[in-house]
Amino acid sequence: MVEAIQVDTMERVVSLCKRRGIILQSSEIYGGLASCWDYGPYGVLLKNNVKRAWWRTVVQAREDMVGLDAAILMRPEVWHASGHIETFHDPLVDCKSCKQRFRADQLISANCPVCGGELTEPRNFNLMFKTFMGPVEDSAALVYLRPETAQGIFVNFRNVMTATRRKPPFGIAQIGKAFRNEITPGNFTFRTREFEQMEIEYFCPPEEADAIWERWVEERFRWYRDLGIRSEQLRKRQQSATELAHYARATVDIEYRFPFGWSELEGIANRTDYDLAQHSRHSGQDLSYFDEETKQHYLPYVVEPSAGADRATLAFLVDAFAEQSDDKGEIRTVLQLHHQLAPIKVAILPLSKKPELTEPARRIAEALRAWWTVEFDVTGSIGKRYRRQDEIGTPYCLTLDFASLDDHAVTIRDRDSMCQERVPVVDVIPYLQEKLATKITNLQSDTIFSK
Ligand code: GAP
Repeated sequence: MVEAIQVDTMERVVSLCKRRGIILQSSEIYGGLASCWDYGPYGVLLKNNVKRAWWRTVVQAREDMVGLDAAILMRPEVWHASGHIETFHDPLVDCKSCKQRFRADQLISANCPVCGGELTEPRNFNLMFKTFMGPVEDSAALVYLRPETAQGIFVNFRNVMTATRRKPPFGIAQIGKAFRNEITPGNFTFRTREFEQMEIEYFCPPEEADAIWERWVEERFRWYRDLGIRSEQLRKRQQSATELAHYARATVDIEYRFPFGWSELEGIANRTDYDLAQHSRHSGQDLSYFDEETKQHYLPYVVEPSAGADRATLAFLVDAFAEQSDDKGEIRTVLQLHHQLAPIKVAILPLSKKPELTEPARRIAEALRAWWTVEFDVTGSIGKRYRRQDEIGTPYCLTLDFASLDDHAVTIRDRDSMCQERVPVVDVIPYLQEKLATKITNLQSDTIFSK
């Protein structure tokens, strides 16, 4: 009965995001700011769930990881040491006729792709945004908006290692904004000038780096699959020598098949000791680790799984998006998001606006809010209300009807199967805990103390 209809998915996702306040154009009332996007009420919940899921997997669930939240602004020396001032640029060309700008490495012909005009010689364009710190706009106060969060981790490496009494192998994770003055942003939130990264710098003995790198590639690949992305839409791709960033010895990209083609979600790089060596040299500080067992100093190698929060969110949205037609030929748009990622977990829908139903329904909503994000909706037909929840990916809708007043039970509808179950009100919380996998299981002594 259900058939997916595939017509320009990307356009439909963008339109759904706008219509339902998931992702909105920045400064829209002034005509919009190119390539800048705002996450609306459901979007912020979704993106926060993506970031939380990442943090839970790579920090909370692991013994060998700690977190960090470094400042966006750093001393300019950081970017000299990291190589970003010298090498973080793209080749830029201008059309002499229509004045449009392009990345030379993305052009397929020697002439302007818009008007066919003659192009200038390529020149290097540094992607870092600059700003001024303090009231006097002179070059002494020039600072950069970070183009990657990674450097905030490298410059804190020694402090974090000492404060947390860690020794390699261990990792530092961070989520935060990064900025790049991209020449050709586009594809909605896929390539923007302001975006959020979820980065891990995993410090390890040099001889262990290759094996650790391979393990991280597998673990990160699994994360996207575990959160519901269809396997056939995901792939790993090793970068060629010419694609590698200036700091990387080897990088595997995890790519998603977007409607606009296979594109990178995350890169897992072996950065060797490049960054720690550079920062040791430029700062004059010794960033080596002293191994008590071997009595040797060494600079740890770094394996870096670096993901984009916006790109991951977009991939989850696109992958979850479905348009299904029922027996009557009516289309329902549904986001089949993993429960962990769904912005709203439960919608409470009293079948009538009469206080006999809305008052107990509100009491249920209030009780559930202690556990989950809940939406209360009393407007429109029940069919329309189900559709609205399907569109934002709410896994469960709970309706209260006049029979509920007698049998003290409610109806719970499952987003994906659309099956409905009558559940006594006293069982609603355990029922949802089970379904939403938020039930806490007790420690079992025979498992804990098994030999
Ligand atoms: N520290 C390593 C690093 O920054 P990268 O491949 O340049 O590596 C890592 O960026 C991730 O950040 C990418 O895989 C992507 O998900 C995200 N990202 C990079 N540039 C982006 C942009 N302009 N817009 C949105 N996300 C971006």
